[in-house]
Amino acid sequence: MQRKCLLSIAARVLSANSLILLWGLVAVGQESPRSNIVVADFEGQDYGDWKVDGTAFGNGPAQGRLPGQMPVDGFVGKGLVNSFLEGDNSIGTLASPEFKIERKFISFLIGGGMNAEQLSLQLLVDGKIVRQATGPNNRPGGSETLMPDYWDVTELLGKNVSIRILDQAKGGWGHINVDQLIQTDQRPKGMIKDAKRNFEIGSKYLHIPIKNGATKRVVTVLVDGKVAVRNDIELADENPDWWAPMDVSSWNGKTITLVVDTLHEDSRGLSAIEANNSLKDADTLYAEPLRGQFHFSPRRGWNNDPNGMVYYQGEYHLFFQHNPYGWAWGNMHWGHAVSKDMVHWKELGDRLLPDNMGPMFSGSAVVDWNNTSGFGEKNKPPMVLFYTAAGNPAVQCIAYSTDGRNFTKYAQNPVLKQITGGNRDPKVFWHEPSKKWVMVLYVELKGVHTIHFFNSDNLKDWIYISKTDGFYECPDFFELPIDGDAANRKWVLIAASSEYRVGSFDGRSFLSESPKIPGHRGKGFYAAQSFSDIPSSDGRRIFIGWFQTETRGMSFNQGMTIPLELRLTNTMDGPRLTFAPIKEFESLRKKSHSIVVDSIKPGDPNPLSKIQGELLEIRAEFEPGEANEVVFNVRGATIVWNAKSQELIVNGHRASAPLRKGRQAISIYCDRTGLEIFASDGLCYVPFPFIPKSSDQTVSLSSTGGEAKVVSLAVHELGSAWVTQLEANQHKLGQ
Ligand code: FRU
Repeated sequence: MQRKCLLSIAARVLSANSLILLWGLVAVGQESPRSNIVVADFEGQDYGDWKVDGTAFGNGPAQGRLPGQMPVDGFVGKGLVNSFLEGDNSIGTLASPEFKIERKFISFLIGGGMNAEQLSLQLLVDGKIVRQATGPNNRPGGSETLMPDYWDVTELLGKNVSIRILDQAKGGWGHINVDQLIQTDQRPKGMIKDAKRNFEIGSKYLHIPIKNGATKRVVTVLVDGKVAVRNDIELADENPDWWAPMDVSSWNGKTITLVVDTLHEDSRGLSAIEANNSLKDADTLYAEPLRGQFHFSPRRGWNNDPNGMVYYQGEYHLFFQHNPYGWAWGNMHWGHAVSKDMVHWKELGDRLLPDNMGPMFSGSAVVDWNNTSGFGEKNKPPMVLFYTAAGNPAVQCIAYSTDGRNFTKYAQNPVLKQITGGNRDPKVFWHEPSKKWVMVLYVELKGVHTIHFFNSDNLKDWIYISKTDGFYECPDFFELPIDGDAANRKWVLIAASSEYRVGSFDGRSFLSESPKIPGHRGKGFYAAQSFSDIPSSDGRRIFIGWFQTETRGMSFNQGMTIPLELRLTNTMDGPRLTFAPIKEFESLRKKSHSIVVDSIKPGDPNPLSKIQGELLEIRAEFEPGEANEVVFNVRGATIVWNAKSQELIVNGHRASAPLRKGRQAISIYCDRTGLEIFASDGLCYVPFPFIPKSSDQTVSLSSTGGEAKVVSLAVHELGSAWVTQLEANQHKLGQ
């Protein structure tokens, strides 16, 4: 009953015939077409009898992209007009000799900046502009693809005309690209400008067809005639690779309009959009072949940095840099997921959408226990989010919630104005000794990477207090006890690469007492952040990194690492960070094998030969004795501990992994998208994107050079962390 009702609501969405073509399309006659006349195809060494002025066009056609330019495509043959010569600031004109209009249309390809006055392809009669066209890009980002376009010149038949290509624009998108000027009698297929479709919203999602790598279209959602959100979308003209759900539930009952800036008239990009209450291909959600089974990844689209990690009202909140409408980076939103244990996550949807201050770049969250911001309600301290609105200027902003579900952007944003265009990624915490909020912020100052420190009493007004150099993007800053001794604590300043310094902090400035120390020792780990507001009774500092695991062919891409418990431990070189999987991960153990073997020497049978598994945790502790190497093979990945170099070598990638008190303890986690390996009591953490063959589920242990003593050896077959969702899928499939 309910289902039927939902369907009928969905059916109310207006169909393709509400596509409004803003360009009047001209009917053409029926007589057989005459052959085309090439006005210019720009395939020669030079511009022939065209006249060049200024520096933007050079002496002849470009052969594709010019130095410093994004890849240029969409042109025909080898050459094109490209006024990016010497960058966007060069200007000039390129003018054709006179020619006669002998066909009804002039077709062409055009790209570059959108600026009708300064970047223009013009048709002139007696020196007067009678037709003109400009490129498609008027914002940062965009695409260097040339698009087909045309002029109807029927009324100019027999007239002498000329063409002028004008570049008088400087700065971003200050260039124009042109190719293939053709006189033709066949009305060319054209591009529709501002193609629109209305939807009467009665379902949760509109499903947008995506083709990875397709030209990006600017898709604007108009609600009550105002821009609600704007995205750059690789819209599929025909068969999509996947469907991106756009959550439209907040506009329920309204008629909204989707406007696509430029769309080929044959494109199904707008007409194919469907309304529905569940994700398309929901039956396979979380069961996809390359879905990490115990690493968080977004249902659809791209993720990069973890954001806004906070424990609030009994839940761990993980926000993340999300492109809901692309497999690659772009359109930065804050996605949102919650968990009770940091193992099983439930994705809730996007919370911060790009707005007229820019896309939503990385940041953090705190619980404002004393309601210093005034955003709280009685007995409900607010969660406050800090993010970078990465427009021009790039500024720091806040948003808040009292239920962890509904978020409001602060009406008086920004709370911190631009320092330089390269300022971003605020991480905020409460500093109890000085009773102040502290923000650490990445600021690029004349090419120098710096971290700025700010103070606030209310999370809204921020005062600069100090800075330190040498850290790039996504800083985090926290205090940890050394070897668990609460009386002996040090501060750790860490940033996106996970390199860090250990030192002290007086509430105003950071005093480094260490060199810059490498953090992780693997690959594909970036922009990690630690949870705020984990109860002091727990006291752990838990860190999650962006795990750069590429998942080609999937409708999602990238993921997060296992949550890692960070500690400081004393070493001969001073206090150092250790990384360990959180203990909650033990709950994923489905079947455990404890293997009793005293030693392993060359030629011994594989003690793990009876074990097979897709998702694995392997734990081994050994004393190397006479062995040169202790070698694990895990589903095709080779993990060698080398006694001579005291290194862990993962598929050839080397990481320092010293013995600790004569022993080495190694834990290996293997998922569908990567390995995470811990050694040397957590001093060595090796994240490693790796896609095992699904057919290889074997594990082995061996040694070279001599006998190693095995202290303990266990293998745990792990279950999926998406178990609830997978069960729901099976339920739907009637299994
Ligand atoms: C790091 C980063 C941040 C920025 C975000 C944008 O990966 O470049 O500095 O805020 O990604 O997505």
